[in-house]
Amino acid sequence: MKQVKLAFGADHGGYGLKAKLIEAARHAGHDIIDCGTNDAASVDYPDFAAAVCRAIIAGEADLGVLVCGTGIGMSIAANRYKQIRCGLCTDTTAARLTRAHNDANVLALGARLIGEEVALDILHHFLTTPYEGGRHDRRIAKLTGQTA
Ligand code: RB5
Repeated sequence: MKQVKLAFGADHGGYGLKAKLIEAARHAGHDIIDCGTNDAASVDYPDFAAAVCRAIIAGEADLGVLVCGTGIGMSIAANRYKQIRCGLCTDTTAARLTRAHNDANVLALGARLIGEEVALDILHHFLTTPYEGGRHDRRIAKLTGQTA
């Protein structure tokens, strides 16, 4: 597996799953930036989405992983950044296709909706599937307002 720099962020609904995902990513040899949060104290998910997205935009991380209760708030927050394409995934097919077709650079997960094993499998597919390019370049250019 290609080694990448990964930025992780979560709110109080997702920090436990984030810890498991970080452990697996470290074991697979990836470099990790942990943007928090790391306990159950109530926090605001946009703050952690911002930290992960800014790390990617600054070139400090290649890809990001965001975890909240549903993954929905994190994905909405992340997709407000023009350079970010965040896919909210609940299964491995979505994880594979959001990399292959959308060239997603952030994965969002809902810790209250999926089990730990499913989340680990999703992360594995997200990290091992290459972007296909080709016809998808034109569509991604339209997302960012660039002409194809
Ligand atoms: C926090 O209670 C919850 O709203 C958050 O984790 C997330 O699910 C938001 O989309």
